[in-house]
Amino acid sequence: MKNIVVLVSGGGTNLQALIDAEKRGELGDGKITCVISSKPDAYAIKRAKDNFIRTKVIVRADYPDIASYSKAMTDLLREAEADLVVYAGFMTILDEQVCRAFPNRMINVHPALIPSFCGKGYYGLRVHEEALKKGVKITGATVHFVTEECDGGPIILQKAVEVKNGDTPEILQKRVMQEAEWKILPQAVKLFCEGKIKVENGVAVVEEPEE
Ligand code: GAR
Repeated sequence: MKNIVVLVSGGGTNLQALIDAEKRGELGDGKITCVISSKPDAYAIKRAKDNFIRTKVIVRADYPDIASYSKAMTDLLREAEADLVVYAGFMTILDEQVCRAFPNRMINVHPALIPSFCGKGYYGLRVHEEALKKGVKITGATVHFVTEECDGGPIILQKAVEVKNGDTPEILQKRVMQEAEWKILPQAVKLFCEGKIKVENGVAVVEEPEE
């Protein structure tokens, strides 16, 4: 069994997609054993509790700086014996000590096709506002390994989504979640748990299914 720890900050629809995939037996031998939230009132916590998953809350404002917050997070993840850490709408930036403690064992879902609309300041609805401002016709989602560079780690899976006339950021966000994020995040977790992702020269290589 592989211990999966999910980090959240908000609604937790990606967490829900993972919980549902696990119930359908679609996470390989992965099991979500703990959910850690950066916000005490995140709806994601309710989703975890409803599914009898252990929860922890760790709030940035309770720590004097990013380093002490990141240290506390690293300690929690070690205590939870995480084999895989999934950022599922986790909005607090952690420092390098966390990804150094879990190299190629942390993944993030981002609501755009990296390297577009990513990096510091691009999160949540902001990403879709910028995509609409630019007038792109195709956007999507990316699952990638977390490294010291914000949204810069090896790309595991991507899925494209059409932008339609009249889209608002909210409408586009929903379509990207439904058509891309909720699909590729559980898929990436399954591939990880099956040992099918390798990182070679900074690039993630995913074993292709046999014909
Ligand atoms: C998702 O769209 C996720 O990709 C995004 O926040 C949303 C969280 O929704 N994450 C980022 O922007 C991280 N840079 P959720 O709480 O319903 O899963």
